Amino acid sequence: MDIPRIFNITESAHRIHNPITPEKLATLGAALRLESGASVLDLGSGSGEMLCTWAHDHGIVGTGIDMSPLFTEHAKLRAVELGVADQVEFIHGDAAGYVSDEKVSVAACVGATWIAGGIAGTVELLARSLRTGGTILIGEPYWRRLPPTEDVAKGCLANAISDFHTLPDLLASFGRLGCDVVEMVLADQDGWDRYEAAKWLTMRRWLEANPGDGFAADVRAKLTSEPERYAAYTREYLGWGVFALMLR
Ligand SMILES: C[S@@+](CC[C@H](N)C(=O)[O-])C[C@H]1O[C@@H](n2cnc3c(N)ncnc32)[C@H](O)[C@@H]1O
Repeated sequence: MDIPRIFNITESAHRIHNPITPEKLATLGAALRLESGASVLDLGSGSGEMLCTWAHDHGIVGTGIDMSPLFTEHAKLRAVELGVADQVEFIHGDAAGYVSDEKVSVAACVGATWIAGGIAGTVELLARSLRTGGTILIGEPYWRRLPPTEDVAKGCLANAISDFHTLPDLLASFGRLGCDVVEMVLADQDGWDRYEAAKWLTMRRWLEANPGDGFAADVRAKLTSEPERYAAYTREYLGWGVFALMLR
């Protein structure tokens, strides 16, 4: 069981697989007023940076589930590096439908809401693991600027303008799902650069190390086209944030 290979290549050096920076991840942890011993479930936990740093900084305990064996392995190593391997557990697996045995204080899906068919399904899924009064975290893109045409939306790698909301509409949509939005931390363009531009050096180095790989032509094409596409579209039009929700 694995994610498409391109992500395991382009994001192999990422600690955070979305446009939030380490500083903003720390801001989010502080903003949530996490208490020592609080339990956090993270569906699509990537390389585990959120759980590991919050375990280190706030004493939380947690479980992360991710479909990439590579990212899961990185998460386990990061937990050892930060001295929190006894606080956090990382499971390689499909997070679709995953409900924890014990209810948690925080149930998160940061940048992987497709695992439950979108935001509504993910809120519903996370709520099944949540203790009464707990917090749901959703990481999701939104339109920072509404694309003027469908082609511009496609340039942002969306299927259509309708894939995402504007920020006010996204916040309103959480209300329609029966949630109060109680905090948010938004990425900025510098954060997008750390997520997207970091892939370019990783691709370049991978190409140098794997010239004969059957996938090399795809990676070469992506490295050639991505900087311009990203600067013209994603960087200009797409926002991204983590939203903390409490059920009404
Ligand atoms: C955009 S990344 C976000 C990772 C992490 N939350 C972070 O912010 O660094 C999406 C993650 O979802 C994982 N993923 C994709 N489909 C999945 C699934 N069905 N079950 C579990 N993880 C999945 C990917 O391997 C990837 O790590």
